[in-house]
Amino acid sequence: MLNTVKDKISEIKSELAYRFALLNHERNLPALEQRDRLILQHLKQEGVYMTSLGELGLNSASNLLQAANSQLSRMETPNNSNAGQRLPQIYTVTDLPEFSTWAREPRLLNIIENYIGLPVAFHGVHLRKDFPNDNQFGTLLWHKDSEDRRIIKIFLYLSDVEEKHGPFEYVPLPLTSAYSLNYYRIYYKLWQSGYLGIHDDTLNDIIPRSAWKPCPGPAGTVIFVDTKSVLHHGTLRTEERSALFFVYTAHSPKRPELCTQYWDETFARPELQISRK
Ligand SMILES: [Fe+2]
Repeated sequence: MLNTVKDKISEIKSELAYRFALLNHERNLPALEQRDRLILQHLKQEGVYMTSLGELGLNSASNLLQAANSQLSRMETPNNSNAGQRLPQIYTVTDLPEFSTWAREPRLLNIIENYIGLPVAFHGVHLRKDFPNDNQFGTLLWHKDSEDRRIIKIFLYLSDVEEKHGPFEYVPLPLTSAYSLNYYRIYYKLWQSGYLGIHDDTLNDIIPRSAWKPCPGPAGTVIFVDTKSVLHHGTLRTEERSALFFVYTAHSPKRPELCTQYWDETFARPELQISRK
């Protein structure tokens, strides 16, 4: 009982410190060009902004694509079936300069800092192949991420993504706002699942399928998402999908232990494999 009270007090203290830091940093937020203010505005309203490498027009994009395709071609066919579930194949490419240079483009960091409201940390990049599956599990279930209070993940499709490749899908922010009953119904279902995530049929009872937003797009499609605020998942696929996942939070995230997987050796590190050969 005493520990619960102590935990609650420390949670309130940390929440107050967070609110104070947001207020304090407001005047230091970097100025944005008009086109980037539109991205920010859309992110705040919808929780998601979809664009493309071409539209973003960052100079380091061609090196990024070249490096991603070269890494993809070297990925070995994984032995990743576990009880009928095919797990994604993930390479951590954070320390390869072509990836981190694009991830740290000042324009991108400025947009993200404005969204998060605090100095940001870029945690890393996963190169990821997702495979066909018959049933929802893992990130195929509807969920919210929990690394921090606000998170930006940037998904970059490396191959064309149609319905059969299992596009990223989300529920627009206004439909799950903290002032709506749906917000609490969804939280209850997530809690019941042990925060693992909820199935399509369960969500359909709360928010009808017709309101869900799948994000198909050609190779080079870029999706900014606040994966903490937005209910999201990868849809079931019958053909594989390749993508990059870039991860950003505030400089001191709420759950730093969840961020290490983007740079440590939880997943394969191609540069280490090459140097070991
Ligand atoms: Fe997620």
